[in-house]
Amino acid sequence: MAEQAELILEGKSYHLPVVTGTENEKAIDIKNLRDLTGYITLDSGYKNTGATLSSITFLDGEQGILRYRGYPIEQLAERSDFVEVAYLLIYGELPTKQQLDQFSENIKMHTLIHEDMRRFYSAFPTFAHPMGVVSSVTCALSTFYPESLNPHRGEEKINLTITRLLAKFPTIAAWAYKNSVGHPVVYPKNKLGYVENFLNMMFSMPSDDYEIDPVIVNALDKLLILHADHEQNCSTSTVRLAGSSQANLYSSIAAGITALWGPLHGGANQEVIEMLDRIKEEGGSLDKWIAKAKDKNDPFRLMGFGHRVYKNFDPRAKIIKKACDDVLNRLGIKDPVLEIAKKLEEVALNDEYFIERKLYPNVDFYSGIIYRAMGIPKDMFTVLFAVGRLPGWIAQWKEMTANKEPIGRPRQIYIGPKVRDYVNIADR
Ligand code: SDX
Repeated sequence: MAEQAELILEGKSYHLPVVTGTENEKAIDIKNLRDLTGYITLDSGYKNTGATLSSITFLDGEQGILRYRGYPIEQLAERSDFVEVAYLLIYGELPTKQQLDQFSENIKMHTLIHEDMRRFYSAFPTFAHPMGVVSSVTCALSTFYPESLNPHRGEEKINLTITRLLAKFPTIAAWAYKNSVGHPVVYPKNKLGYVENFLNMMFSMPSDDYEIDPVIVNALDKLLILHADHEQNCSTSTVRLAGSSQANLYSSIAAGITALWGPLHGGANQEVIEMLDRIKEEGGSLDKWIAKAKDKNDPFRLMGFGHRVYKNFDPRAKIIKKACDDVLNRLGIKDPVLEIAKKLEEVALNDEYFIERKLYPNVDFYSGIIYRAMGIPKDMFTVLFAVGRLPGWIAQWKEMTANKEPIGRPRQIYIGPKVRDYVNIADR
């Protein structure tokens, strides 16, 4: 007989089906709970609530495991590249050479954004945070491609919409940077690879072409792979929730970009480097910052530390920490905040407060140090996170749409005033 959970409420016994995943994760299926019992469940922040059945990414927070479509992140970071990982996440299998060449070619054919979209950039103030620009322009893609508005327009139209977004996003992102520094935009060059093209659009100047450094290209490609998907995190859940109303891909992804911007989520990578810089400016003493992080009355948190799922280590942080040393050494860069970050990690991991709460460095703790070594300004760090996460968001939206999942609409428990009659303002 299928495994069941028994729930006893007000003396009555109810049996609910248990769902077991590929890696033996267990869930109690409560889709009929309210009809059966009149009760709902309550779980602020969805810390114990599964939203869907998904075949895309597997995380094991206790073991520090991360796999995309079954492939360990360590192998993909070492042996694959970002465009191939994007194909794997979106279409479910590693591509053949012919499939990968066609996928890359299709992307190259769509890297330009409509010339009229340049007016959006000039409308933003130069001090606009690039995340606000990128989320706005991404949503605006839906106004230039009306065929994208109906997510059920068949495989071919969906693939064209997906290809356009993968192709144009680096252009949208790089132009947000150029807008922020008042430099002329650089158009995509189709002879360049995906990451090279992005770097060229970021750093080429009319006065001199950007010299593409393979050390930087490889490091950024690896970082994008490490950010490519992470199952039902805040921004991905936002993409799925927006898409569940049958909103189009571009606007659903724009919603995800907005959620990623928060300092508790993707915005943490910028917060980490600002925190490390402050520690450096104040002489590098860590005691004050560790004490602040532990002080319940102080809103300060050790940015780049802690994770909802990983309770031993974030496998991505391990890979990025190692890449930090490699990239800075090969670029001949000495960034004192790298030593501060390593010392902070060592002190925190030997402190009862962090040990007890299982707080370890996460993906954002070291990534900003590499981005800075590449010459990427800190308010573009979260945009880089979004460039990496894009294929994951697309894969999750595509899975949710293909499975025709119902519109997301959580319930609540009302704790406001009981019924009362309206009182005219003269009588209040
Ligand atoms: C990402 O979900 C994903 O997969 C996200 C992500 C992805 O790839 O999509 O991995 C990317 O968002 C990584 C996280 C980046 N954010 C930060 O680095 C910000 C700092 N970290 C936190 O604010 C926090 O750790 C979260 C938001 C990441 C997780 O928060 P939870 O799971 O809601 O845990 P919590 O806030 O309930 O904390 C549990 C305890 C609390 O103490 P007590 O109330 O039990 O005494 O740990 C403490 C917290 O105060 N705590 C921290 C801390 N993080 C948690 N204390 C100091 N510094 C921290 N960083």
